Amino acid sequence: MKEFPKGFLWGGAIAANQAEGAWNEDGKGPAISDVYRNGIVGGHFDGEVLEGHYYASHEAIDFYHRYKEDIALLAEAGLKCFRTSIAWSRIFPNGDEEQPNEKGLQFYDDLFDELLRYNIEPVITISHFEIPLNLILKYDGWKNRKLIGFFERYARTILTRYKGKVKYWMNFNEINHFHTIPLAAGGILIKDEQSKLQDIYQASHHVFVASALAKKLCSEISPDAKMGCMLSLSPIYPHTCNPEDIFDAYELRRRSLFYSDVMIRGYYPSYAKRIWREHGISVKMEEGDLEIIRENTVDYLGFSYYRSSTHKAGMPILGNTGGIIGLENPYLEKTEWGWPIDPKGLRFVCNELYDRYQIPLFIVENGYGGIDEIGENGEIHDDARIDYIRKHLLQLQEAIEDGCEVMGYTWWGPMDIVSAGTGEMRKRYGFIYVDKDNDGNGTLERRKKKSFNWYKSVIETNGKVL
Ligand code: BG6
Repeated sequence: MKEFPKGFLWGGAIAANQAEGAWNEDGKGPAISDVYRNGIVGGHFDGEVLEGHYYASHEAIDFYHRYKEDIALLAEAGLKCFRTSIAWSRIFPNGDEEQPNEKGLQFYDDLFDELLRYNIEPVITISHFEIPLNLILKYDGWKNRKLIGFFERYARTILTRYKGKVKYWMNFNEINHFHTIPLAAGGILIKDEQSKLQDIYQASHHVFVASALAKKLCSEISPDAKMGCMLSLSPIYPHTCNPEDIFDAYELRRRSLFYSDVMIRGYYPSYAKRIWREHGISVKMEEGDLEIIRENTVDYLGFSYYRSSTHKAGMPILGNTGGIIGLENPYLEKTEWGWPIDPKGLRFVCNELYDRYQIPLFIVENGYGGIDEIGENGEIHDDARIDYIRKHLLQLQEAIEDGCEVMGYTWWGPMDIVSAGTGEMRKRYGFIYVDKDNDGNGTLERRKKKSFNWYKSVIETNGKVL
């Protein structure tokens, strides 16, 4: 029976905007996620809160008021760490204020204290698809260099305030999704398809500088803490062994690895020059930018892994980082939402990344989004979810045997939360059920599913029961 490494960070992960609710309480300003209907992938961005419409983030699962109850359950499951994000607009409601909102800061103080009371390490994402709305409407989001300064102030504020409480930070959630969902992930409102790539690469440069500055601040303020980057790294398989498909799939992969290449190695990869040249892209940089990026590389690579995708030459490559579109893979089964289930792909990705970078990996999102049925006596037998996680953890164990250094694993959505992609509650990931439906009805009561005790035993035995 194999075990996971000593001190392995078993955990769970959520994002503020998908769980907290209290969207306008205690001085919080509107975030981009508060004006999306039906999720960020297929949904609609209203730009403001329109009367008569339902916005899932406004109440979400009311974590803002119920976090103590949730953390007690997570502690009972034995979690060693808990990943969440800080809602930027709780701290700086419009993103551009000089002074932070004390009530917002206090909320995260209380939340982190509660976690630490149970010896659960907070793992904190600084920006997870919830940029203050004002920064989009007034400044055009990350296209504007001014955002570097606003972000630096925000990062300095939280790094200083939570020094000693937070040891694991991550800069931007799924930063490579700048290409697939530029508005939600990158705060980039694409107004003109012609200049889309130019905008994305310019915004990416600003984010690289901002991330490096945050890393620099982290080293100065909290030298014992670690700062990671975070990408969505679904593997991309070529559709056939035709060299055309193979090279195209490789090129598509580079659209994602471009982000980790810069943040881990500290310089732009040579292949970027050709992409920029061929698409007439000119990225404006200021003196000192490249030096900041070079000198402040991240400590670890966090990534989400849910599925794989299959790519054929000729399919769109430029606005796509893989995982969202893709051809059928006849070897894989799918979830109820059509996501291919590919446990071995996790072993593949860990090896791919560790071969490339040799820095610690952290699987900060993995899980099974599906429909749960409640039995006559209130029980929820989520065997498909257990099966999914079990198979992925077995492959993760193999990756560790292969020599990959893996810091931890956080189950996405330990309690059911709002789906980022579709805004639904019906797409559930949790080992804790939350009574709420897609239209916002429900008592918000929490209830353990079968997977609760299963995950508890996995953690207790450090993976031996798998
Ligand atoms: C990741 C995001 O892309 O996938 C999460 O970081 C998101 O915010 C998760 O919730 C699962 O996607 P979905 O659409 O099922 O919620």
